[in-house]
Amino acid sequence: MTKTKTGKEITIRYPRKSDAEEMWRYINELSKEKTFVRFQGEEVSFEDESKYLETMLKRIEEKKSVTLMAFFGEEIIGITGINMMEKTEKHIGVFGISVAKDYRNDGVGKILMEKVIEEAKKNIEELKIIILEVYAKNSIAKRVYEGFGFKQYGLLPEGIIRDEGFDDALFMYKKI
Ligand SMILES: CC(C)(COP(=O)(O)OP(=O)(O)OC[C@H]1O[C@@H](n2cnc3c(N)ncnc32)[C@H](O)[C@@H]1OP(=O)(O)O)[C@@H](O)C(=O)NCCC(=O)NCCS
Repeated sequence: MTKTKTGKEITIRYPRKSDAEEMWRYINELSKEKTFVRFQGEEVSFEDESKYLETMLKRIEEKKSVTLMAFFGEEIIGITGINMMEKTEKHIGVFGISVAKDYRNDGVGKILMEKVIEEAKKNIEELKIIILEVYAKNSIAKRVYEGFGFKQYGLLPEGIIRDEGFDDALFMYKKI
């Protein structure tokens, strides 16, 4: 158990096969919100989410990925991951994170980020660089990443399109 800023007791753990339904609910709620993530209202089927989880569990087993989820009771309130690339980029892990709307700004994002980096360092020997993409308008996330030592290495002008229009895609890295 870990405590958030407001004292909520949360659990951080790896995913299990039995999490498919709760993950499915989580991703569709996040998608509906049309926030700073890839899903912008698209609906994910239970079948697709189950396949995604199956692949994820296999990749964790093979030490090609670390995924951690934050639970408040039975509810998933945040997911983070570091996914290794392949071949000449097999020393690079791609980072991603989201926290459920009602649980933001309570320290969950920082707790998850600290744990996933620690866990990836421990379990994935090849990991030398972590990279991520963040939308330029997502100033909160950008600030959090800078706080963790991430530095910007690129910018794709208008690399993101959402309902509200174009945004620049920023690329950041951190050496391990
Ligand atoms: C970005 C995100 C993961 C951060 O998670 P979180 O649980 O809200 O973050 P935390 O509560 O751990 O806060 C981290 C820092 O951001 C600050 N912060 C968080 N929400 C904030 C807000 N609404 N306004 C101002 N600052 C805020 C916190 O004060 C904290 O700063 P500190 O270290 O100086 O105290 C979360 O906001 C989120 O999921 N957003 C939508 C999806 C997303 O943007 N994902 C990232 C894609 S690149």
